[in-house]
Amino acid sequence: MAESSLSPVLIAGGEVIDATGRRHADVRIAEGAVVEVGASLAADGAQVLDAAGCIVSPGFVDLHTHLRQPGREEAETIETGSRCAALGGYTAVVAMPNTTPAMDNAGTVREVLELGRTALCEVVASGAITLDRAGTQLAPMAELASLGVRIFTDDGTGVQDDRLMRRALEYASGLGVTLAQHCEVTSLSEGTCMHEGAWSSRLGLPGQPSEAEEIMVMRDIALARLTGARVHFQHLSTAGSVALVRAAKTEGLAVTAEATTHHFTLTDACVAGYDPVFKVHPPLRTDGDVAAVRAGLGDGTIDAIATDHAPHTTEDKERPFDAAPPGMLGLETALALAITELTGDGAGPRLELSDVIALMSWRPAAIAGIDERHGRPITAGEPANLCVFDPTATWVVDPAQSASRSRNTPYAGRILTGRVRHTILAGTPTVIDGAATR
Ligand code: DOR
Repeated sequence: MAESSLSPVLIAGGEVIDATGRRHADVRIAEGAVVEVGASLAADGAQVLDAAGCIVSPGFVDLHTHLRQPGREEAETIETGSRCAALGGYTAVVAMPNTTPAMDNAGTVREVLELGRTALCEVVASGAITLDRAGTQLAPMAELASLGVRIFTDDGTGVQDDRLMRRALEYASGLGVTLAQHCEVTSLSEGTCMHEGAWSSRLGLPGQPSEAEEIMVMRDIALARLTGARVHFQHLSTAGSVALVRAAKTEGLAVTAEATTHHFTLTDACVAGYDPVFKVHPPLRTDGDVAAVRAGLGDGTIDAIATDHAPHTTEDKERPFDAAPPGMLGLETALALAITELTGDGAGPRLELSDVIALMSWRPAAIAGIDERHGRPITAGEPANLCVFDPTATWVVDPAQSASRSRNTPYAGRILTGRVRHTILAGTPTVIDGAATR
């Protein structure tokens, strides 16, 4: 994370929304913290960031970012990925462990944390659950937890072995950390490249049934019940998964869940042109699944909006659909997609702006275990990790403008509403007027 700025900043003329409510107020920041919140504060030599017509909120937290470093720096680096994050209003991202080598050892986790120190957002390291994410032997979870790792996942794949998953949950519970699961039963998904349904039949592509996800969600709910450990479900994509998590929460189990922006905005019909930009794991599902994910975001079954920002080089993404790697960019478009698709008059429950901010800020901050620094109420004494965005500004997604090293956004040409204007990390602006400061 960047050093705190000593020069004071005044965010002037905006409307503050945080977990305590909303009010029109200026926000003065000095030495990394909020020092004053009130009406018509004097500049007093501070750098003034205009927030007229804007919302001032706690910075966003992404539970699911692939930064690709070490190992795939041609697709993204910690620096470029964190720049995308800052431009998207994020002040922290959880870096997924499917790097090369995997983040299954202290050396690699230290390397990521060290590179994160100069990034444009806080880089929170996740740790792999199993060695090399291979699903056979537990990673040194206690050692990684001693470095500050609070969230473990084999993301990109799920832990297939029931006994190993039980053991991992028992360790996690003892260490006070959270296991996050990419739910996918490989015996059902192997060799597939999209959702199994009417579109896969029509396109002649091998499909993966919803059950490939739901069977693992079901098993992990059972294991959460057995062990009493916390389980976080990553990128839920099916109506059945949402229903399972809803029932588990009603039962009082310690489960949480995230949904990605693409799983509440795109369907398997997008695959009709065989464009690999629409290939992702879990795959894009049906209208009914999208509606269920939106309902889950609306009723609290799903705790957080995540991006699953997954950069891939153009060369890789231009392979035929079945051979191309899965994944899409997400950090720079997430807020605008949430505002455009969830707060308008579209299908599904209509969310308030404050609900969207909760899903992107303080709720994921709590799941990541960083809620003492991120998602905080905007009051004097709190760390100044903030986002200022214009909820009515419209813009057109242009992959060429992305700060990522990759270009694989499925939203090219889409007109979206809601744009980040300024982002402040530990008191220092990382984005001013829509441009990264470095
Ligand atoms: O689409 C995906 N891409 N899903 C994953 O789980 C992994 C990710 C990646 O690393 O590219």
